Amino acid sequence: MFKTTKIGHMGFWTRDIDRMQDFYTRVMGFRVTSRSGPGAKVPGGAAVFLRCDRSHHEVVFFQAPESAPSLYPETSSSLEERKAGFQHVAFEVPDRMEWLRALKHIEGSGVEIKYGPVVHGPEGDGFHAGSGNRAFYFTDPDGNYIEVYCDITVFPEEETGWGNVLD
Ligand SMILES: [Fe+2]
Repeated sequence: MFKTTKIGHMGFWTRDIDRMQDFYTRVMGFRVTSRSGPGAKVPGGAAVFLRCDRSHHEVVFFQAPESAPSLYPETSSSLEERKAGFQHVAFEVPDRMEWLRALKHIEGSGVEIKYGPVVHGPEGDGFHAGSGNRAFYFTDPDGNYIEVYCDITVFPEEETGWGNVLD
């Protein structure tokens, strides 16, 4: 068995990234870590990653596309189903050893890994604004998309994040 420490972040589909970014910054006081364009290697191809503390993101909003291809075709929602709402929940484990233990345990439990294991960044999946974490993805029995990760980027308090990026 492995040890999960917390829910680290959640992902959501949105029909309007600008509107969600405005709400989570102006109303909720979050900061933008990165805002990615249509070519980004994320579900839907565009996203905004927001944080309320120093971790790379606590919430991420993906553009719900009409027809754009996804890096994660295995994700539980079909393109037609991509309205606003839940996309994935990410559980944090303390370090790489625990993450490897989690991978072995979950695979050993007969659960199919849908995506990964992967590192989100130029050293891994090529997403330059990626959060640097090691991650893998699978679904629970209801089809909810689950991520288990470690080693997410943590910014110094004064760091503003990466802002707008092209990928
Ligand atoms: Fe995630």
